This record gives sequence, C-alpha cells and structure tokens, in this order.
Amino acid sequence: MERGARRIEAQREVVLRTPRLTLTSWVVDDVGALHEVHSDPETMEFVRHGRPESRPEVEQLVDRYIAEHAARGWTKWRLADLDDRLVGRAGFGGTSDSRGLSYLIRRSRWGRGLATEIAEALVGWHLLHTVAVPLRAIVAVGNDASARVLEKIGFDEDGKEDFDGTMCRAFVHPDTA
Ligand SMILES: CC(C)(COP(=O)(O)OP(=O)(O)OC[C@H]1O[C@@H](n2cnc3c(N)ncnc32)[C@H](O)[C@@H]1OP(=O)(O)O)[C@@H](O)C(=O)NCCC(=O)NCCS
Repeated sequence: MERGARRIEAQREVVLRTPRLTLTSWVVDDVGALHEVHSDPETMEFVRHGRPESRPEVEQLVDRYIAEHAARGWTKWRLADLDDRLVGRAGFGGTSDSRGLSYLIRRSRWGRGLATEIAEALVGWHLLHTVAVPLRAIVAVGNDASARVLEKIGFDEDGKEDFDGTMCRAFVHPDTA
C-alpha cells in the first residue's frame, strides 16, 4: 500500500466487519468513488432523488456523512471489500426515536448476497448499540430486490407510507419493535 493510501486508511474508523466487507467512516477523498456509484441511473432509480447525482451533490453528501458520524456516531457508512475498494454505502438514517436501515451496492456487485450480508450485520449492530429504538426500513414500491433483502433477514412488512412523494413499503424488524 502506498504511503498516501495508508494515511487515508488510518483516518477511517472501522464500524464493523463481515466475511467479505468492511464498514467504515468516510474521508473527503472518498467523493470520487462514491460519485462513480451515485452517477449510475439504474442504481439511483429508487433512492434519493431517483436520478444520477452530480459530483457537487455527492461532495455535500460525504460532508454530511462525516458530520453525522462525528456528532452522533451513526450515519450511512462507507462499505468496502477486503481490498478496500468501495462497494457502496450502508447504515442508518432516521431520528433519535426511529432508525431506518439503508444500503446501496455498486451495480457491478449486485446479485452476490452483499446487501444481505451487510444488512444482517447492521441489525446486529443496532441491537447491540441502540437500545429501545425501533429499526425500520422503507422501500419504494417496485424495488423488489431491496424488499427481498429485508424479507431474507427477518423484517416484517408494516403497511405503506409516502416518503417525499414516493409510495413506499414499510418494514420493521420484530426484535426491535
Ligand atoms: C437492492 C440492492 C441493495 C440489492 O443488493 P444485492 O447485493 O444485489 O442483494 P442480495 O444479493 O443480497 O439479495 C438480493 C435478493 O433480491 C433478489 N432479486 C434481485 N432482483 C430482484 C427483482 N427484480 N425482483 C425480486 N427479487 C429480486 C435476488 O434474487 C436476491 O434474493 P435471493 O437471495 O432470494 O435470490 C441493490 O440492487 C442496490 O444497491 N440497488 C440500488 C440502491 C437501492 O435500491 N437500495 C435500497 C434502497 S431501499
């Protein structure tokens, strides 16, 4: 590993590890890699604004993730493979009294069980670190792959709700409800 890469690695805090993935905090230098993922239309169809994002939008997002992690200890963290290549992001949105599970995987890595692997590990993180706060997830109607991930790790479907004008399926994890 080059010296610059080692320096960046040292700035990241490891949140959790799974057999194939490492979840860490972000550094400003991650903007380019996350923009590669967030500029893909298929990846963004059901998340955020439902469209590919510009580099300035991703810069703002990484700034927000860094600030949230520093201020409250949870955010949507950086997801990397064991060679430290960015695979996506995963973590939590929401508020102090309701947490929302979130995951997004780079399109070239879909269909290998990676979302399921990190989502299941995050349920464990939530149960360990977040006492008495329900863990929910909302999935835009039509995003059947994401709903399948939640079903596989034991979430129950809990009606429908509007999120920023998008009709979504709501889920809750029974161990946290
Ligand atoms: C949704 C997403 C996270 C899934 O990631 P992934 O790593 O491919 O997911 P996994 O491989 O762990 O599991 C996907 C499951 O959905 C199934 N699936 C895939 N496409 C599907 C579809 N169109 N309809 C129904 N099921 C589908 C897979 O077969 C698999 O289920 P199985 O293990 O029973 O076969 C990924 O497509 C993604 O990042 N999409 C863009 C961002 C996003 O939508 N995030 C979720 C916001 S709520």
